[in-house]
Amino acid sequence: MDPVLNPFKPGAGLRPPILAGRDSLFADFDVVRRKIAELGEGDRSWILTGLRGVGKTVLLGELQRIALNEGWIVAKFEVRREHSFAEELATALFSSLRTARRQDKEGKLHNALRVFKSFTLSMNLGVFAFEAELEPAAGYAASGRLSTDLTDLLVELGEAARSVGIGVLILVDELQEAESSEMAALSTAMHQINQTSPVLPVFLVGAGLPSLPSQLASANSYAERLYQFRTLSVLGDQDARAALVQPVIERDVSWDEDALRIALDAATGYPYFLQEVGKAVWNNARGPVFTVEDAEYGTDDARREVNAGLYQSRWDRATPAQKDLLRALAQEGGGEGVAVRQLASAMGKSSASALSVPRDELIKKGLVYAPERGVLAFTVPGFHDFILRQD
Ligand SMILES: Nc1ncnc2c1ncn2[C@@H]1O[C@H](COP(=O)(O)OP(=O)(O)OP(=O)(O)O)[C@@H](O)[C@H]1O
Ligand SMILES: [Mg+2]
Repeated sequence: MDPVLNPFKPGAGLRPPILAGRDSLFADFDVVRRKIAELGEGDRSWILTGLRGVGKTVLLGELQRIALNEGWIVAKFEVRREHSFAEELATALFSSLRTARRQDKEGKLHNALRVFKSFTLSMNLGVFAFEAELEPAAGYAASGRLSTDLTDLLVELGEAARSVGIGVLILVDELQEAESSEMAALSTAMHQINQTSPVLPVFLVGAGLPSLPSQLASANSYAERLYQFRTLSVLGDQDARAALVQPVIERDVSWDEDALRIALDAATGYPYFLQEVGKAVWNNARGPVFTVEDAEYGTDDARREVNAGLYQSRWDRATPAQKDLLRALAQEGGGEGVAVRQLASAMGKSSASALSVPRDELIKKGLVYAPERGVLAFTVPGFHDFILRQD
């Protein structure tokens, strides 16, 4: 079928044709939105966690769209190693502040802009295109310490937003990459927001790998109570069906039931796989009904894409010692977490500490994470199958 009309969207952060299985999350966000819009009151922030390819980035994008529609101040950015957290945040915030300011005829955002300017100066962030006459706010966000200055900034933004009748939404992707001190600063600021009464309308959604909650907890002892933790998991059968069926129905195409079963079994509910499978079946089929043959051909094709795009490059980047550990994890766990002690004995090592170097390196590379102390698991779904097929 015509690839130009292909509705499926495999990739990183690409909005799928149907955002399946996330209705309850959007319903909950609507409560947050209404509380802010109707009462000017904020709520407990969210931490979204999930494996690679479950749809974290896409969700942040949707929340951003909803908030921008409401005229909120929105900052969405991705934490990157070797990049300053403060600078990424300020850059993301700046364009939204500029837009909000244009609508702010009464100058209610003036003070917040001055505090924002202090923040950029105090954090040595280089030049943001302000008018020269905008004075930094003396004594606010000027300590040079991220936790203090970020707190001042968010509190001031929250007050300004409330006076205008809007909210502030901070969306942080790949939060597991932040330094512990940056996580601590963010939590300190949100803790302060939570203590205002009524709570200021500043809402944070941080997204990251499943290691994120314990990283946040080691950065601040109260992080466990500060946030609502939500896990994004694979889609159940009904939702996975919807993800494959609805986009094609809209184009007058349908699935033979057996063909659909093959595609669903191949994708195992993983949002990224569903897009990859849907795309390949579409491109290889004649239509207007996808047959078993189309599905078989398409899923093979999709598997090749996933191998090339998701697994091969990660495997190639691992050193021989890291590959040994990955192989043991695949053999012992088959996709589930495994105790490092068990991995060590499977590899003929005397103790778990003999694996600490490759373990730490693999965690840094983002290939594995520790679901709990002393346990390792893959961050990429299906990686174990790929590894077991390697020589
Ligand atoms: N709810 C969903 N229904 C159907 N497809 C989805 C859904 N969520 C995401 N996808 C698709 O899954 C793929 C991965 O999405 P996304 O990049 O948001 O994942 P991620 O969790 O951010 O991954 P990573 O950890 O690698 O950054 C995209 O192709 C996207 O279109
Ligand atoms: Mg992502």
